[in-house]
Amino acid sequence: KDPRIHGIQSKIRVVPNFPKPGIMFQDITTLLLDPKAFKDTVDLFVERYKGKNISVVTGIEARGFIFGTPIALEIGAKFVPLRKPNKLPGKVISEEYELEYGRDCLEMHLGAVEPGERALVVDDLIATGGTLCAAMKLLERAGAEVVECACVIELPDLKGRERLNGKPLYVLLESY
Ligand code: PRP
Ligand code: MG
Repeated sequence: KDPRIHGIQSKIRVVPNFPKPGIMFQDITTLLLDPKAFKDTVDLFVERYKGKNISVVTGIEARGFIFGTPIALEIGAKFVPLRKPNKLPGKVISEEYELEYGRDCLEMHLGAVEPGERALVVDDLIATGGTLCAAMKLLERAGAEVVECACVIELPDLKGRERLNGKPLYVLLESY
């Protein structure tokens, strides 16, 4: 395990019972306050994906934007935001997904990703995996090949990895 990971983990604040009783919220804003730990986080992904012929990085609103954009710039890929409903002005494709209570939706601009592109999906955290599943469906509908999903944090108890249908998931750290 890379020695930088311990430093990254130590900067993530865990807030019990936020936003609801029983949830241990993984607060990455404290990681962003530390330029060294934030840079280490981005660097670890860049080292993994540089030279892998990835042409597009997609970041999931909102926290996936924070990590996805610097990774895209560093590996020389374009960045495509996957947004919550009714935020994108152009024609979009949409995917609904299940939340603990109710449903949510992600949208992507039509034409932002071309068939055959090699895509990386970036988010801060995987919990149930519903969000990453919806993101991958959007990319597959656009004809892209999802090379991998990348997150800073995995909550293994929620078994989100099992929902990804065997698609590779790379995470820097696990939290229980
Ligand atoms: C959180 C987190 C992931 C998602 C993971 O985002 O940032 O995107 O939940 O959950 P899942 O694996 O169970 O789908 P949230 O929707 O709370 O919004 P935000 O990123 O805009 O804060
Ligand atoms: Mg999110």
